Amino acid sequence: MDKIIVVAGANGNLGKRICIALIEEGAKVKALLRKETNSKTIEELETLGLEVYPIDYSDTQTLTGICKDAHCVVSALAGLEEVVIKTQKKILNAAIAAGVRRFIPSDYSLDFTNFTHGENRNLDLRREFHKYLDVQDIAPTSIFNGAFMEMLTDQFPMIAFKKKRITYWGDARHEMGFTTMDNTANFTANAAMDDCTPRYLRISGHNISPKELKKVMGNITETPFELMRLGTQKRLARLIKIVRFLAPQKNKLYPAWQGMQYMHNMIDNRASLKSLDNKRYPEIQWTKVEDLLSKHYQTLDL
Ligand SMILES: NC(=O)c1ccc[n+]([C@@H]2O[C@H](COP(=O)([O-])OP(=O)(O)OC[C@H]3O[C@@H](n4cnc5c(N)ncnc54)[C@H](OP(=O)(O)O)[C@@H]3O)[C@@H](O)[C@H]2O)c1
Repeated sequence: MDKIIVVAGANGNLGKRICIALIEEGAKVKALLRKETNSKTIEELETLGLEVYPIDYSDTQTLTGICKDAHCVVSALAGLEEVVIKTQKKILNAAIAAGVRRFIPSDYSLDFTNFTHGENRNLDLRREFHKYLDVQDIAPTSIFNGAFMEMLTDQFPMIAFKKKRITYWGDARHEMGFTTMDNTANFTANAAMDDCTPRYLRISGHNISPKELKKVMGNITETPFELMRLGTQKRLARLIKIVRFLAPQKNKLYPAWQGMQYMHNMIDNRASLKSLDNKRYPEIQWTKVEDLLSKHYQTLDL
């Protein structure tokens, strides 16, 4: 019998990729969507071969029924407390009630196990959810993938393509971990299908420093890029406090200060890039930063 995997947030950017990767791995995928999802989206997902369930996540009975016989429940939800803690708890409780043995929470971030409360609001919410998750009768596995590599093309503000500049905080030789969404989804699908996985799995498609990024961009564009240091990590911490005070936007998932907190964490030595699990599923081909950026560069009209 095909392994049944339940995916919550199946229409999300990462969630859909996880579903597609699971189908390729031969799973039977039960895709959970919010019940108000429009019929066009539902049809599109069904065409991918998914069993689609538009549901109210508060409907424990229905959720438990869907989770029955599942090998693993995977969450790819994105949001603040309401989603990361409350909705994920509902999904987790339903999975446990249905007798599911394994659960993958929506972490997909840098390894925050060495950080403390207050250093990153969004990661604090995950840590809060873990406190509940880790005492339940189910085996959880968090996937840590650093930053999505695609963010280097816009949201992760390091590359000024037009000005031919790499901006950075802290040390130009400090490596940061980047993994594409497809590689993250592929790895997650393999982990979901696995019979047993450890509490944490750490991956990185490419560990790269600002100095190396400058070289990569120079090679891609055949024009030299300059390095521009914005300040120390301490200065970034001070700036985060100021921006958060002036523009708190606390109901937004990614206000400016939140992005800066991720940057602050990425340049921290505690965001360890050692002991990676990349080789666990040897068929995965890891995309390098130069591959992604050279494709992106060709699409730019500079
Ligand atoms: N490491 C990184 O650099 C990085 C970057 C971005 C995201 N992430 C992480 O990757 C994971 C997935 O993010 P994503 O980018 O795929 O997000 P996304 O595209 O916004 O998808 C989020 C999913 O969550 C669902 N959702 C949102 N609010 C909900 C609610 N109140 N109730 C039920 N479902 C809700 C959405 O449903 P609808 O489809 O109905 O809207 C969607 O399916 C998250 O853990 C996110 O933090 C990591």
